[in-house]
Amino acid sequence: MAEVLKGMGGVMRRVKVTVVGAGNVGGSIAQRLAEKNCYDIVLVDIVEGMPQGKALDLVEAGPVCAYDSAVTGANSYGATKDSDLVIITSGIPRRPGMSRDELLETNTKIVSSVVKETTTQSPNAILIIVSNPLDVMTHVAHRVSGFPRNRVLGMAGVLDSARFRSFIAEALQVSVENIHAMVLGGHGDSMVPLIRYTTVAGRPIDEWLSPETLQALIKRTREGGAEIVNLLKTGSAYYAPAASVVEMVEAITKDQKKILPCAALCEGEYGFHGLVLGVPVKLGSDGAEVIIEYALTDEEKSALESSAQVVRELCKKVDQMIDKTD
Ligand code: LAC
Repeated sequence: MAEVLKGMGGVMRRVKVTVVGAGNVGGSIAQRLAEKNCYDIVLVDIVEGMPQGKALDLVEAGPVCAYDSAVTGANSYGATKDSDLVIITSGIPRRPGMSRDELLETNTKIVSSVVKETTTQSPNAILIIVSNPLDVMTHVAHRVSGFPRNRVLGMAGVLDSARFRSFIAEALQVSVENIHAMVLGGHGDSMVPLIRYTTVAGRPIDEWLSPETLQALIKRTREGGAEIVNLLKTGSAYYAPAASVVEMVEAITKDQKKILPCAALCEGEYGFHGLVLGVPVKLGSDGAEVIIEYALTDEEKSALESSAQVVRELCKKVDQMIDKTD
């Protein structure tokens, strides 16, 4: 990808990014990417006219926002050919009272078919999965694409960590930029915010907040997705998810070597084998370049294992589904 970015004769060529699913998440990702002025974006959706309409609308915002990004809408995959990155947001979102896991069956079918189509068109792309249940859909993408593990990632940890950081910032009345946090594990109620590695201006969080306040913020983080679903009633969050995807895209396309929590396939890291889970990942032009291992206490290890167990069970279910249809 570094070569891709430099392009021919040292001239920067725009990175081609396909966003599948032109709903609120896909539309917001396309907007944020267009505003960066270094991506050509293809927005794909099955709903006729919708991706084309959003794409045209984004192109028409270009003169006002000072970008020349090409944004194309399509209902089929031909236009996505040779994408550098493919972001998959397709699938049904949660409604109030639903868990992400209840989306399993429908979204497995949708994500499988989208992965097949997009990877046929773009066999060298890096995939970022956004559909829920996140870790399991990333597992589906691995299975269906057969891509090496560095080229299949899921977005969740950046979002969960951003929620945690924003709640801490609000509680302490300090800038969000002062707060570092790593939320690991599955993107669900069992996610694991690492308190020992959460700092405010470099100082450990437990020196800033009482255990009770901290626990309340962790609970709010775990339920952060549901809090938004309950407010919106007709769908789930999209501004923060889109911003989180774009942080990952930028880290990859600019070869930043940025360490972010992402859903990635563990092959021995943290003691997990063949399991997709939220872990710290160094992102660069090769995608998920290295999974970074933090030293964990027994308590943290056991929290991560409980979260892994939830993901493992759901992966077993989808494997049976996929085996039946193969
Ligand atoms: C959330 C959904 C996108 O956490 O999973 O808001």
